[in-house]
Amino acid sequence: MTEASPGSLRSLVTGVGGYLPSDIVTNTDLAKFVDTNDEWIVERTGIRQRHRAAEGEFTSDLATVAAQRALAAAGRKASEVDLIIVATTTPDLTFPSVATMVQYKIGAPVGIAFDVQAVCSGFVYAMSVADGFVARGLSKCALVIGAETMTRLMDWADRGTCVLFGDGAGAVVLEPQKGQGRTSDRGLLGFSLRADGSKKDLLFVDGGPSSTGTVGHLRMLGNQVFRHAVVNISEAIEASAAVAGVTMAEVDWFIPHQANQRILEGVAKRVGIPEEKVISTVALHANTSAASIPLALNHGIEDGRIKPGQLLLLEAMGGGLTWGACVLRL
Ligand code: ACO
Repeated sequence: MTEASPGSLRSLVTGVGGYLPSDIVTNTDLAKFVDTNDEWIVERTGIRQRHRAAEGEFTSDLATVAAQRALAAAGRKASEVDLIIVATTTPDLTFPSVATMVQYKIGAPVGIAFDVQAVCSGFVYAMSVADGFVARGLSKCALVIGAETMTRLMDWADRGTCVLFGDGAGAVVLEPQKGQGRTSDRGLLGFSLRADGSKKDLLFVDGGPSSTGTVGHLRMLGNQVFRHAVVNISEAIEASAAVAGVTMAEVDWFIPHQANQRILEGVAKRVGIPEEKVISTVALHANTSAASIPLALNHGIEDGRIKPGQLLLLEAMGGGLTWGACVLRL
């Protein structure tokens, strides 16, 4: 169990960017080659479409565009970036990391670059790792990116999983800013992370370099994952809010991992967040794993709902199982 509350130096999100591949696959498109239909997918998940990376378009390509857009939004240059953390479970290659590829592609100088692998919880985990550098003054300009090509892990004969996922990338720039140690400070205010390896068989990929020598396909006991999701996520949310010293009533926007509309609504109801404060992109993006939170954040900023100074609550659960939540003031 890990909870942490940063000290007076805060990790402030100064820019957000997103990228979605241009190819959109609707539920009806999927039904042409999978035994499924739009009604089932919408009713059970809320998903209406997903984006799919083009042939030859890799996770690092998606991550690079999202990173460049986040830097532009922050008014920063690639030459200022000293830390890059990419949350991904679908790297271009087993190694090197996607982060080092992004570093090269954006033209960032020699610095720190590595990937974090916590599946759908990856972005929340990566934010907490980045905070360890930024809030200690060890990084002046960090990129935290969630980037995935989840469609490459699908078994297209498994209708219980292949309809749920999509590709995309979202990025934030984090910079240190002096705070007062109060909840009114802008920046990361607290987080809560969890993992339970005993639940591996609920959600995993059946391949890897050390076991099969293949990439493998995603396997999931969906209804069991569902059962754990609402309880686990709600508990982590309450723990992160307690660390940050905020109440649910103070939260301006709830930006959950976008796995399933029913999970989003179940969690919001359980922790007492009204529907109108929930940012949902699951209909448009499906589940983009580690990319879903920064993509949803970017979506809410671009449509004018999310504004600087507002209190944001982020949460996710994914394979491992891993889960966690993070409270920050934009
Ligand atoms: N189209 C049509 N029918 C389908 C499909 C499909 N794509 N997939 C499954 N079905 C059928 C099943 O075969 C089954 O039929 P049967 O009753 O004749 O046997 C029926 O629908 C019910 O299947 P269930 O798996 O019990 O359906 P459920 O209501 O649990 O919904 C779902 C499945 C959507 C996967 C749900 O369990 C879920 O969302 N779980 C959460 C999993 C998740 O989002 N994981 C992502 C990673 S973890 C995370 O991000 C939180």
